[in-house]
Amino acid sequence: MQQHPKTAGLPPRGATVPPFYAGLIGEQAAALARAGREIVPMHFGQPTMAAPPGVLAAAERAMRGGPLGYWESPDLRARIAQHYAEAYGVDVAPSRILLTLGASAALVATFAALFAAGDGIAVARPGYPAYRNTISALGRRCIEVDCGPEVGFRLTPSALERLAERPRGVVVASPANPTGAVLSRDELAALTDYCRTRGIHLICDEIYHGITYGTRATSVLEIDSDAIVVNSFSKYFRMPGWRLGWLVVPQELAATLSAYLVNLFLTPPAISQHAALGAFDDPAALEAALQIYTRNRSLLLQALPQLGFRDVVAPDGAFYLYVDAGRWTTDSLGFCRQMLEATGVSAAPGIDFDPQGGRRCVRFSFAVTTPEVERALEALAAWLPRG
Ligand SMILES: Cc1ncc(COP(=O)(O)O)c(C=O)c1O
Repeated sequence: MQQHPKTAGLPPRGATVPPFYAGLIGEQAAALARAGREIVPMHFGQPTMAAPPGVLAAAERAMRGGPLGYWESPDLRARIAQHYAEAYGVDVAPSRILLTLGASAALVATFAALFAAGDGIAVARPGYPAYRNTISALGRRCIEVDCGPEVGFRLTPSALERLAERPRGVVVASPANPTGAVLSRDELAALTDYCRTRGIHLICDEIYHGITYGTRATSVLEIDSDAIVVNSFSKYFRMPGWRLGWLVVPQELAATLSAYLVNLFLTPPAISQHAALGAFDDPAALEAALQIYTRNRSLLLQALPQLGFRDVVAPDGAFYLYVDAGRWTTDSLGFCRQMLEATGVSAAPGIDFDPQGGRRCVRFSFAVTTPEVERALEALAAWLPRG
């Protein structure tokens, strides 16, 4: 892009936002793959399995049908409402559901609409990096709350109570990225109650719902029908590149949030909205991936401690293991680069999720095939120094 002569060479004037370090690892992995190396891609948080066949068929029909203009699908809003009734037994009016360009856009619109410049928003550390970075890019302040392995990676009311200031908002993901921690119904109810009685906006990121190992995750909507929920087709429905998600908001906020969304993003891709209607009605196709994740999770839980990783906590949901590699490194980015170069296994550096403690940690995504996990473990066993 050509810069105006008066601004050429000047640094940006907005907040400085770091990259996704996992993305840098992805670039290195892509370069190695181009050079003919076999890579096991465990760095990015996305299913490597294609979207369910019903999604692909619906997309094909849409492509050959009418024009794909700016559009928000009333049928999809109604289908998501039906999903809440079927999966959680809760009644959500379609008018409270707003379609977004992934959970990412839902978060941007929510942070922009509900908070003013300088407002503090609390998030768990380790946590999804874009919470911290989006909050600061928008001029809000991110308040990171330590939620390490000693508290099962859980954000609790008592941790919020210990903060030096009361946040205006709290973002919580359950299941969480990068730890897979799932809040029990009681834990979620306690957090909801804490926030509601103090006038704090609680934003629940339910993007990993559907991907759990044991009991299903509770939706905050089962506890508080007026909660704010962020969700997406990127994970359970295996449509990350289709850029489609949704928000559930209280009725009185729907028009405001919708105005933000349309101004910032117009509408999500029309083809993805058509396609997503094919995502709900083939539970076997969705479950197929879960069976693979379950096997992969067991393999890694067994092998990673033997290889010398510490704090290997069994994730109750999502498809990640966030583990301590402090035996070998305090520079997780350098470690991931070397590991990739030596073994072909790519993982996300912990500094994405926790700029300090994450120097010792790495996150493995196990949304890959089981033979790939087996290959990765073999290569790591041959490379990692023992003793
Ligand atoms: C916790 C969490 N929230 C939100 C997102 C954004 O997802 P998307 O914009 O693809 O829906 C991600 C992506 O990895 C995530 O892990």
